[in-house]
Amino acid sequence: MSYMVNASLAMMSKGEKYQEVIRDAVAVLEGEPDVVARMATVVSLLDQAFDSWFWTGFYVVDKVKKSTGIDELVVGPYNGTLGCLRIAFGRGVCGAAAATKTTQVVPDVHAFSDHIACDSRSNSEIVVPVFDASGELIAVFDSDSESFGTYDEEDAENLEKLMKAVFGGAIVV
Ligand code: SME
Repeated sequence: MSYMVNASLAMMSKGEKYQEVIRDAVAVLEGEPDVVARMATVVSLLDQAFDSWFWTGFYVVDKVKKSTGIDELVVGPYNGTLGCLRIAFGRGVCGAAAATKTTQVVPDVHAFSDHIACDSRSNSEIVVPVFDASGELIAVFDSDSESFGTYDEEDAENLEKLMKAVFGGAIVV
């Protein structure tokens, strides 16, 4: 696997890093149906590629609660400081992404009125909805940074592409 031996990762542009992560994720996960294994692998690859991210992980749609009519996210595989366990749809940045099914790019979390501060060091954040092959929302991907303005449209586009490739059954060439 090229990723583990790629000493030049630190020298790559953001776009090149995403290309590498997407290629490696698709290769490593070929034939692996387990969603937790897929999420954990995505977290590991992104965490190694992007030094400035201190929290990288997933909040998963709680299927049991969903069957009772309650829309709630529960924390899934992540790397970073202790994350909040549960987030209702519509609450915080994660809940906004889940409720609207759209990516949230937040350059300054302090300017986002409903931001949930799991770690006071967070200054910017991105949250991307994750859909399965049938188009159903199964989770949101969340990343936090200590710097302001870490995430932009390039991150949004590439993370959406990664989530589609890994969880949506898309073929990436
Ligand atoms: N800040 C998020 C909560 C999750 S933590 O950042 C890990 C939010 O507002 O939804």
